Amino acid sequence: MKTSRIALFASALMCSAAFSAQAAELEVIHWWTSGGEQAAVSLLAKEFDANGQDQWRDSAIAGGEQARAVVMQRILGGDAPQAAQFNNSRQFEELAEAGLLLDLSDLAKKEKWRDVVRPKSILDPCEIDGKIYCVPVNIHSDQWLWTNKAIYKEVGLKEPQSWQDVIDQAGKIRDAGYIPLAVGGQGWQEDLTFDDVFMGVGGKELWNKVYVDRDEDAAKSPEVAKVFETYAKLRDLTDEGSAGRNWNDTTSLVINGKAAAQAMGDWARGEFVLAGKTAEVDYGCVPGPSEHPILTTGGDIFIFPKQDDADKEAAQLRLASMLLSPDVQVKFNTAKGSSPVRGDVNMASADPCMQKGLALLNDDANIALPKNAILSSDTDGRIQDLVSQFWNTPSMTVADVQDQFVHILQDGS
Ligand code: GAL
Repeated sequence: MKTSRIALFASALMCSAAFSAQAAELEVIHWWTSGGEQAAVSLLAKEFDANGQDQWRDSAIAGGEQARAVVMQRILGGDAPQAAQFNNSRQFEELAEAGLLLDLSDLAKKEKWRDVVRPKSILDPCEIDGKIYCVPVNIHSDQWLWTNKAIYKEVGLKEPQSWQDVIDQAGKIRDAGYIPLAVGGQGWQEDLTFDDVFMGVGGKELWNKVYVDRDEDAAKSPEVAKVFETYAKLRDLTDEGSAGRNWNDTTSLVINGKAAAQAMGDWARGEFVLAGKTAEVDYGCVPGPSEHPILTTGGDIFIFPKQDDADKEAAQLRLASMLLSPDVQVKFNTAKGSSPVRGDVNMASADPCMQKGLALLNDDANIALPKNAILSSDTDGRIQDLVSQFWNTPSMTVADVQDQFVHILQDGS
């Protein structure tokens, strides 16, 4: 009842909203709370405020899961923010299906989003039942190993080019007094590391068979068992402070010369930049690591919950348009460590780590969809819980975890 009342009201106001020039304050919820993330998001706020008309009211909530839960509760409780960050995934699908999000299709058509956004898969999660409900702002990939160059030099090792290298080198790094692989012990980080190992050890074909095709034989295969075995070996490579540690505090261990490496998405780059470190001099960025690095095309999008207010709605459209504008795309993504979602912007100023990412993203053979864009939120969450349980329970066998993994994939959507 409530949903359709909001839907009717919002669409009736669409026309008048388009002509409104009233200033509006928009509350924007996101989870960009680390130093590097704050630097990037403040560029967006500044740019929006500079239109002389509107104001960005910042609501930063630490942790993606927490922030998304607050957004859901607020929308369902009738106190929706005007904009909110989600991952470029299926996380907001139910909100769109329930008619709770502003339809951006007219704006997308006018600004030719389908032509400028690349790769195509980046705009796909925004399109639900033929309508556009979100604006993608960046491409983030999870599959990066961030390294401290000085540590590898001191111990006389080359940066790892495979997960087996990471494991083989650990003893020497540990003996020299460093953490071989710093892991932040939170469910999503443990799951991200698992995804990286999956892609590095199993490869893209296996990834697609298991997650996209839901091929039961592939999920049961010895290749997937090898992914879990390799992942299990990483448990001993981290340190005692791992439990519950934030990703950026973990990155700090690499920045400050305590840990040799961290597996993390390319947003980690923002922390190195903020610390005044130079790419490929002070810190290294190894995609993969594997012989054929594959990057998932994840990232962030903004949704715009429907409002009973024409001025706010007009401002929401101004914000959506601004987020995708070429200038903002370059500035924001340079600070954030992500790649722009537009193919028509000049990224000549990108540092060597970004250049590596951009070059890989240019060829479809190197890219795959992230798990949360393939699986429903529920199924994705169940896999994350299972992976985290396995990581934290050394007595759990590979056969046991793989059985449960197969079951969730067969059972879930
Ligand atoms: C991801 C998000 C990134 C990054 C990271 C850590 O979900 O896509 O933009 O900020 O969380 O906060």
